[in-house]
Amino acid sequence: MTSSTSAVLVTGGTGTLGRHVVPLLREAGREVRVLSRTGGDGPDQVSVDLRTGTGLDAALDGIDTVLHLAGGPKGDDIATGNLVSAARAAGVRHLVYISVIGADRVPLAWLRSKLAAEQAVTESGLPWTTLRAAQFHELTLKMVQSMAKLPVFPVPGGLRLQPVDSRDVAARLTDLTLGTPAGLVPDLAGPRVYGLGELGRGYLQARGRRRPILPVRIPGKAGRAYRAGDNLTLTGADTGKRTWEEFLDQQPV
Ligand SMILES: NC(=O)c1ccc[n+]([C@@H]2O[C@H](COP(=O)([O-])OP(=O)(O)OC[C@H]3O[C@@H](n4cnc5c(N)ncnc54)[C@H](OP(=O)(O)O)[C@@H]3O)[C@@H](O)[C@H]2O)c1
Repeated sequence: MTSSTSAVLVTGGTGTLGRHVVPLLREAGREVRVLSRTGGDGPDQVSVDLRTGTGLDAALDGIDTVLHLAGGPKGDDIATGNLVSAARAAGVRHLVYISVIGADRVPLAWLRSKLAAEQAVTESGLPWTTLRAAQFHELTLKMVQSMAKLPVFPVPGGLRLQPVDSRDVAARLTDLTLGTPAGLVPDLAGPRVYGLGELGRGYLQARGRRRPILPVRIPGKAGRAYRAGDNLTLTGADTGKRTWEEFLDQQPV
């Protein structure tokens, strides 16, 4: 890739969300470079582990905007800190970040790490935009699939989700990346709130399976936060279009 003032670096561009965003940015005429640990090196992709940061300076050469999607179960705070330092040195003009609804309210280690990553972006001194999204349909599906493998389907009492389609999140992030820095924008959630029991029953029914439902309780502060709905945005959120049912209908059985 040649240096261009309009090039976008998409970290995590090979992931569930990234695979939807990258083509949208290219369709919009932006030159895109994809960063991941295992995607390989080529004219439009680079292999960098953000938790070490080795190779980041070269990855940012000629980059105007960074869309930071790379993430995992832990270490997002360290990865984001490394990215922010390198982006500042490279003179990046817009840093866009994807976080999770409830990062500021639910006391779980991975959400604390997302919140610390948000703070690294906010305090970077770079013009920034952060979007918090609800749980994607793909992750919701993985969760109900793994529960449906058990002899009984465990349903944590009071746990509700607002699953959102990763394609709707990708479309919103594309607009934000093409736009001007906007700070913390309204959350993006799915079109409906579901109890976990309802999601589980819907999944089992769609697959023609039966399982006894076993009510369970999430212990501790995290359990209280989930029962209080701290992982939800019930007012003021933007909502995605594609429903959980539409997503589920289109999955291979
Ligand atoms: N899934 C959800 O429900 C959800 C909801 C709200 C927000 N989010 C956020 O959205 C983002 C994307 O989620 P996703 O579901 O698309 O994740 P994903 O499918 O697991 O993809 C993660 C991407 O990040 C890359 N990556 C992971 N660790 C990296 C590292 N240390 N250095 C460089 N690249 C790394 C992965 O490629 P390699 O493995 O090859 O490195 C992959 O491209 C994450 O920040 C996540 O927290 C997710």
